[in-house]
Amino acid sequence: MKESRPSYFSMKPRVLSGIQPTGSLHIGNYLGALKNWVRMQYDYECVFCIVDLHAITLYQDPKELKQKIEQTAAIFLAAGIDPKVSSVVVQSTVKEHAELCWLLTCTTPIGWLERMTQFKDKSSKQESISDGLLQYPVLMAADILLYKANAVPVGEDQMQHLELTRDIAQRFNAMYGETFVMPETKLPTVGARVMGLDDPTKKMSKSETNPGHAISLLDEPSVIRKKIMRATTDSNPQVDLETAGPGVLNLLSIHQAFTGWTDEQVKQHFQGLRYGDLKKTVAEAVVAGLEPIQQRYLQIMAEPGYLQGVLREAAERVRPFAAETVRLVKDRMGIYTD
Ligand code: AMP
Ligand code: TRP
Repeated sequence: MKESRPSYFSMKPRVLSGIQPTGSLHIGNYLGALKNWVRMQYDYECVFCIVDLHAITLYQDPKELKQKIEQTAAIFLAAGIDPKVSSVVVQSTVKEHAELCWLLTCTTPIGWLERMTQFKDKSSKQESISDGLLQYPVLMAADILLYKANAVPVGEDQMQHLELTRDIAQRFNAMYGETFVMPETKLPTVGARVMGLDDPTKKMSKSETNPGHAISLLDEPSVIRKKIMRATTDSNPQVDLETAGPGVLNLLSIHQAFTGWTDEQVKQHFQGLRYGDLKKTVAEAVVAGLEPIQQRYLQIMAEPGYLQGVLREAAERVRPFAAETVRLVKDRMGIYTD
């Protein structure tokens, strides 16, 4: 395949990932995805998307959604995404995401989509299920394949969608000739699945309404402390790493992900510690980890026009590459291209 490479994209391997601009981003989003993005951005050519077209697969209040899109972009930057080296893109502003999605829906068997656990989960909670909810993973595949991403840093809950992305790519390549690159899933070593503080058997999630469930990246220190002090543990009085239940293990891994401590350091420090002290230590690590992000967030939001400029520039930068992929895919399928 002859690949014309618009000048922006260097020969570095490429990364694509995305977060939906719904609810408040929480420490699960940070430890599962964002923190890894920040670490990878100098080794890869990165596109990080605010996936607003995914968000509307479930109803979103229009006014709120607009605000959430900008807030999510500001959090990406505040967490350390450098807009000079990475492209922070609002998915809907590069129309090729939707265009490639349509082309791929035509090669993806419905059965593959009906099997997705997130679809089954989300659709079981809806009275009326939109077609978009079923197509959700095809749009995600389009996001990734559009930029021929080599690596996709996500949390554990997205593994099935990434397997499907590879299946979609492989099927297309088999039908129309080698076109797409196979993307690899990149999970963080710690924090790939942060659990709810109120119920450590459930994944921490934006849609959960109990205020003690998640720590938002913008929670005040006093709120963070309160939520962690109330987190569910187990009936042991103190930390025992051999028998610790999911609540204690969750707190320990949140701490480890924020501090970067080794397993040995964790064992040395926490084995035998009373739960009250464990929680205080974890709370301080989270407060310290989020403080600089919160400060930068406020600065970014206070600078009129800055964020909009970053988003516009990034979209302009990636569009030629996206257009080139869509042109190639259409050409392979025999669709008319001018
Ligand atoms: P979402 O909130 O569904 O848009 O997810 C955005 C990113 O955060 C994805 O890479 C998810 O895998 C990741 N993520 C969401 N919730 C968690 C969690 N509880 N633990 C770890 N990663 C998560
Ligand atoms: N489905 C992902 C989630 O909810 C978000 C997403 C959309 C994404 N497109 C993507 C993640 C492309 C990685 C790559 O977490």
